[in-house]
Amino acid sequence: MKQHKTYLTGIKPTGIAHIGNYLGAIKPALEKISHNKDERHIYFIADYHALNLIKDRNLLKKYTYSIAATWLALGLDPNRVIFYKQSDIPEIFELSSILACMTPKGLMNRAHAYKAKVSENIKKKIDPDTDVNMGLYTYPILMSADILLFNTDVVPVGKDQVQHVEIARDIAENFNKTFGNTFSLPKYVLNKETAIITGSDGRKMSKSYHNTLEIFETEKVLKKYVYSMKTDSSLPTDPKDPDNSNLFSMYKQFATQDEINDLRERYHQGIGWGEVKRILFNKINDYLEEPRESYKNYTDKTWLIDEFLEKGRHEARQLAKPFLEEIKSKIGVG
Ligand code: TRP
Repeated sequence: MKQHKTYLTGIKPTGIAHIGNYLGAIKPALEKISHNKDERHIYFIADYHALNLIKDRNLLKKYTYSIAATWLALGLDPNRVIFYKQSDIPEIFELSSILACMTPKGLMNRAHAYKAKVSENIKKKIDPDTDVNMGLYTYPILMSADILLFNTDVVPVGKDQVQHVEIARDIAENFNKTFGNTFSLPKYVLNKETAIITGSDGRKMSKSYHNTLEIFETEKVLKKYVYSMKTDSSLPTDPKDPDNSNLFSMYKQFATQDEINDLRERYHQGIGWGEVKRILFNKINDYLEEPRESYKNYTDKTWLIDEFLEKGRHEARQLAKPFLEEIKSKIGVG
């Protein structure tokens, strides 16, 4: 009998985290980490997955440290979570090679990231394989290895990753049928869609709209961002609808229930946008002040991050090594 229910998720280091990433993914993921001893939580940095996109040595290193520092600064406790870098665990790549031999090509043809790229090329009337590297094509196999190597039960993901978890499950079932029961069959849980975080222009905060705000920007940049948020031209004395206000919806993400109720009341009574912005800026700034310091400390002293990742590497390999041995012996190479 397995002792733990295992939760695992990977984070691709392809950029610097913004407020939308924090509220939509990082915060809910950190809240999931429980104190329950029967649960094992594994969070890792999927740097080999990022390599599909990022072909710049310094940038990949920068993003990897930045993502690690972000999670640590926001409260990920490496004593409660096994936290490592994918590239530090050679067993993942060995398992990925094994799984590739069990994966029908047709399954990869149907994977949506690859399919999207091909149909984009067809639309442009260029060779369908343009800019399709094998890393993109076999992306779901590597992700299956990430998941299956740790006998994962639950994978918390966003909508775009559901198909990948289903593929991992297919591959696991296939393997179990051929070589006897080996892998747990992973399930996904969808990260709850939190409120859409609006950017300064009132649209969804997204890199493609150039309206994002990095979480750990300086106080000055944060202030400028908040004060540039779009509002209507109503007068300070006009009553306002809080539920139709991007400033209010942002405030709700950081404030306590009492504070939210208070501001709601002030909207109804009439409040100037300048005053709302001042309140909102102070709220976010207070909330992020400590994590911002901590982030800076980690990115200035990256050896601190290395130490945590080294601990995670050790813990992860301790689980991975004996299991990979078992798998190899089943297929006849061990
Ligand atoms: N593919 C995921 C993403 O793009 C990252 C990832 C890699 C992952 N391996 C994983 C997520 C394993 C969950 C489990 O966001």
